[in-house]
Amino acid sequence: LNYRVPQTRRDIIQTLIKGLQRMEYRGYDSAGVAVDGSGKDHAASISLYKKTGKVKALDEEIYKNNSIDFEAELDTHFGIAHTRWATHGEPSPLNSHPHRSDKNNEFVVIHNGIITNYKELKKYLVSKGYDFESDTDTEVIPKLIKYLYDNRESNYMSFSTLVERVIQQLSIENVSFFLNRRGSPLLIGVRSQYELSTEQIPVQYNCNSRTDEQEKNALNRRGSTNALHSVHDRLAVEFYFASDASAIIEHTNKVIYLEDDDIAVVVEGKLYVHRIKRTAGEDPVRVIQTLQMELQQIMKGNFKAFMQKEIFEQPESVVNTMRGRICFDSNTVILGGLSDHLKEIKRCRRLIVIGCGTSYHAGVATRQILEELTELPVMVELASDFLDRITPVFRDDVCFFISQSGETADTLMALRYCKQRGALTVGVTNTVGSSICRETNCGVHINAGPEVGVASTKAYTSQFVSLIMFGLMMSEDRLSMQQRRLEIINGLQKLPELIKEVLALDDQIKSIADELHHQRSLLVMGRGYNYATCLEGALKIKEITYMHSEGILAGELKHGPLALIDKHMPVIMVIMRDACYKKCHNALEQVTARQGRPIILCCQDDPEISKMAYKTIELPHTVDCLQGIISVIPLQLISFHLAVLRGYDVDYPRNLAKSVTVE
Ligand code: G6P
Repeated sequence: LNYRVPQTRRDIIQTLIKGLQRMEYRGYDSAGVAVDGSGKDHAASISLYKKTGKVKALDEEIYKNNSIDFEAELDTHFGIAHTRWATHGEPSPLNSHPHRSDKNNEFVVIHNGIITNYKELKKYLVSKGYDFESDTDTEVIPKLIKYLYDNRESNYMSFSTLVERVIQQLSIENVSFFLNRRGSPLLIGVRSQYELSTEQIPVQYNCNSRTDEQEKNALNRRGSTNALHSVHDRLAVEFYFASDASAIIEHTNKVIYLEDDDIAVVVEGKLYVHRIKRTAGEDPVRVIQTLQMELQQIMKGNFKAFMQKEIFEQPESVVNTMRGRICFDSNTVILGGLSDHLKEIKRCRRLIVIGCGTSYHAGVATRQILEELTELPVMVELASDFLDRITPVFRDDVCFFISQSGETADTLMALRYCKQRGALTVGVTNTVGSSICRETNCGVHINAGPEVGVASTKAYTSQFVSLIMFGLMMSEDRLSMQQRRLEIINGLQKLPELIKEVLALDDQIKSIADELHHQRSLLVMGRGYNYATCLEGALKIKEITYMHSEGILAGELKHGPLALIDKHMPVIMVIMRDACYKKCHNALEQVTARQGRPIILCCQDDPEISKMAYKTIELPHTVDCLQGIISVIPLQLISFHLAVLRGYDVDYPRNLAKSVTVE
């Protein structure tokens, strides 16, 4: 939304399209744009463009329409854009956003999330004569806006009042209303050539209880103290509303994060934030923050795909996770975000580690060492299942929420569930300012840097390291554990070098992928500290290569999976020198006895294993509880090469989204 910075409509469209492209990594199936003024005569109506498939296709579609004056230079331009990931209704232009109130496009809306009472609203609006053109839940919003506007009590009704009235009618699960946040993230980027009027905006209340006349007067009276604008009388301010900072970072690094239920309104170039109801203890201001993210950080560089870039970043990303937190001279670990709550955490009855997908695997990977170092029972839970079971949670539980994005709806719901029951909540996320960060009592930022590839890689290894650091911090005063702690801390120090050694095996790993890429299925087997590697490796393979893949606990082999083994079934086994080595060896015997031809991830110089393997990938050895960080990397690389060889888009796998903000 651009206020009094003369720009052409083409500029605005370009900004929107670029913003959508920056968010492509999240996954989507269709896209749409709405811009002001459709006709060459600058008529006030809004133009809508929607298309299934890539944003690029939408971009081309727009310029096919030659009735529009793209070069018109106006003081005020606005536009909204959206990429949709189908939940209600198949991907199609009609189901894509923006949705409209009527054929004249009087009101247009984009929305993230689910409206649970949309059926009732739709029935009501249809009975009032409003025609629907899509199968989506979102379409009830513009229709409802139009209905409320058509039936307003007096001639004047401000847009903010209208928005408030609409929101009050909607049962919303995870929604970002245009300018309203509930559940899903929404941030505002602010760009101005001039100094801004304030560093923070006070939140206003009860705007809706005013009469329209009072509202109008109030808006006229609102001065610089409760709004954000340029000190030069509203000149040259641009506001960007987005669900993801990467969409706006090339325009500005000044942002305001909206809280749940905030309504942001721009009136005559001034930005206001208000809320319908006041809740005790809430923050009375929204502060302008400076994002640290650089555009090049989210660019691909020389790599074929973001995922590949992120795999190769791991020697640095794990260092960034440890930076300033581990003192290798004194063997101490301090996680600043947890220090204030450490006493409370130490008194707890159990730890519950909750996440989805890869983040869940980080919990599985570290469970054993957390049990050992904290001497507490540790439960590791998939967020959705944890909620389905209505799991008992107590005030003296400490619940960890692991999430790269910090926005995953299932994990966020589980967080709210645990919070309600009085547990202490800890966030482990990669996204500063995310919902999980803000709603937990305390937390750890994993500092892995932006992760763009839908298949998570560097975030996993950084989550792994973060949870290990937590275990080390908890055991600092345990004399009996000092030797073990020392061993782990030394292991962490050497980790970046070992990761580099594994990455150097890329060519060898690619040649294995060459052999495997026509297969339909791939089993990954291991146990103990490396079981999580099998689950995570199989998930990577499923996500981006579309091959069937299963992570199998080697201890369960004889209880079922052995039936799958024959000379045709490709099997990868992880057999490292740790307490499970002998048992893994037994599993290997069973596999080879059935003519299986395993590719084995093992430690360097292990002739015993090598002679039974069809192929080996020899990995550097580290402390048992850190070995999973090393052993997962060849599987990340195999899945990457398999996907490339099979001709798939590595960063944007079909049907998946980077950040799943619906339950
Ligand atoms: C989605 C992604 C997965 C990811 C999971 C959890 O399903 O496709 O790759 O592991 O969400 O995401 P989070 O951001 O919470 O770690």
